[in-house]
Amino acid sequence: MDNTIISVKNLSKLYGSEQQKAIRLKKKGIDKDEIYKRTGVTIALWDVSLEIKQGEIFVIIGLSGSGKSTLVRCFNRLNKPTQGSVYFQGEKIDDFDKKRLREYRRDKIAMVFQHFGLMSHRSVLGNTEYGLEVKGLSKEKRGKAAKEMLAMVGLEGHENEPIHNLSGGMKQRVGLARALASNPDLLLMDEPFSALDPLVRKDMQFELLTIQKKLKKTIIFITHDINEAFLLGDRVAIMKDGEVIQTATPQEMSENPYTDYVKQFIDSADKTHVLDVGSVMITPNSIVRLGDTLNFAIRTMKNNGVSSAYVVDKKMKLQGVLTIDNAVKANKSGQTISDVLIKEINTTSADTLLADIIEIASTTPFPIAVVDENFTLKGIVSKAHVLSSMSS
Ligand SMILES: Nc1ncnc2c1ncn2[C@@H]1O[C@H](COP(=O)(O)OP(=O)(O)O)[C@@H](O)[C@H]1O
Ligand SMILES: [Mg+2]
Repeated sequence: MDNTIISVKNLSKLYGSEQQKAIRLKKKGIDKDEIYKRTGVTIALWDVSLEIKQGEIFVIIGLSGSGKSTLVRCFNRLNKPTQGSVYFQGEKIDDFDKKRLREYRRDKIAMVFQHFGLMSHRSVLGNTEYGLEVKGLSKEKRGKAAKEMLAMVGLEGHENEPIHNLSGGMKQRVGLARALASNPDLLLMDEPFSALDPLVRKDMQFELLTIQKKLKKTIIFITHDINEAFLLGDRVAIMKDGEVIQTATPQEMSENPYTDYVKQFIDSADKTHVLDVGSVMITPNSIVRLGDTLNFAIRTMKNNGVSSAYVVDKKMKLQGVLTIDNAVKANKSGQTISDVLIKEINTTSADTLLADIIEIASTTPFPIAVVDENFTLKGIVSKAHVLSSMSS
C-alpha cells in the first residue's frame, strides 16, 4: 500500500521578474546570491522532491532564508509554485478549483504558526472552536470537540480565559488545540516553538510527541534547530538555498551525511538524541553462568578487573548481577550464585536512544544490561560509554 500523503515533484519557486534568465543561470550552476545580484530574482525553492508518509513527523530544517516557509506554503497553496507540483493523496493540488481548495484547507490540513495567530478578542475556547464554527458545526458539538482538545494540550479549566492572559507556551497550546480540533489529516507547523523560552520549548516538544502517539497525525514540522529536528523527526529534510540536500532519518543522517554542510549542521547537535544504545554498547567481558561455581565466578571477575558480572542461564537469558564482594562472602559460607544474585537490575533495549537512559546510567551502580525481547543478554552500556558518545 502506498502510504504517501504529500508528494512534491521538482518544485521550484522564484520571486522576481527575470525568471527565465535566473533559471538559465541556475542550470549553469550559479548560486542563489549571485543570481539575485545579476537578475534581482530570488530562488526561494529549487527542484525540491519529497514524499511525506502518513503518520510521520517530517521535519524540514534549514537556516533562515533557506526556503522552509516557502515550501510549506506550497502545501496549502498559499504559494503558487513556479515549476513542479504538489500532490495530496495522489491528487495534484494545483488542479483544485476554488471550492475543492477551500474544502482541502478547511478539512484536510491545519497550520500552527510561530506567532500563534490567535484572535485576541476571543477566549481560549472561542479560538479553539473557530475552525469548527467555519465548518458549520453546532455550538454544542464544536464546544465539546474544542474542550477535548484543550484537555489534551493541558489547558483544562482555562477555556474561558482571554487570550492576552496567557503565557507564550499556553498560547501555543491553544494554537495546537485549534489546529487539532478540526481533525485534519495533516498538520503544518512553521517554527511553532521558536519564540518560546528553552524550558517551555522542551515541554511543548514533549507534549507534541505525546499527542502524536495518541492521534497519529501526519505532521510537517519546520525548525532551524537541529536538536529539535532530531528529537521530533521520524525523518528530516535539510535545506540550503532553496534546495533539499538530504532527506533521511536522524540516525541515517548522522551516520552518513551527504555533504560537509549537513555534517556541520549535525556536529552542532546533541548526539544523545541520535545514537541508540546498540551503537555504543559493548560485549561484557565477564559473563557468569548460573551453574558456575563461585570460585570460577570470582576468578573471572578478577581476571577481567571488574567488580561485578552479569549472570545468564544456558540460553544466555539474563538472571541478574553478581558482585565480587557478594561472591567472596557467599563462597566462605558455602552458598551458591543463586543465593546472592541481585535480580533487581536496570535493563534496556538496543534501539533505545541514549538520551533516554542518561538518567539511569548516571545513578546505576552497574553498567546497564542490554537485552532483547526474550531477555537474552546482548551487551552492556556504562555511564562512561554514554558520556563519551555525547562529547565525541
Ligand atoms: N514574497 C516574497 N518575495 C520575495 N522574496 C521572498 C518572498 N518570500 C520569501 N522570499 C525569499 O525566499 C527565500 C526563502 O524564504 P523563506 O521560505 O521565508 O525562508 P525560511 O522560511 O527558510 O526562513 C529568502 O531568500 C526570502 O528572502
Ligand atoms: Mg520561515
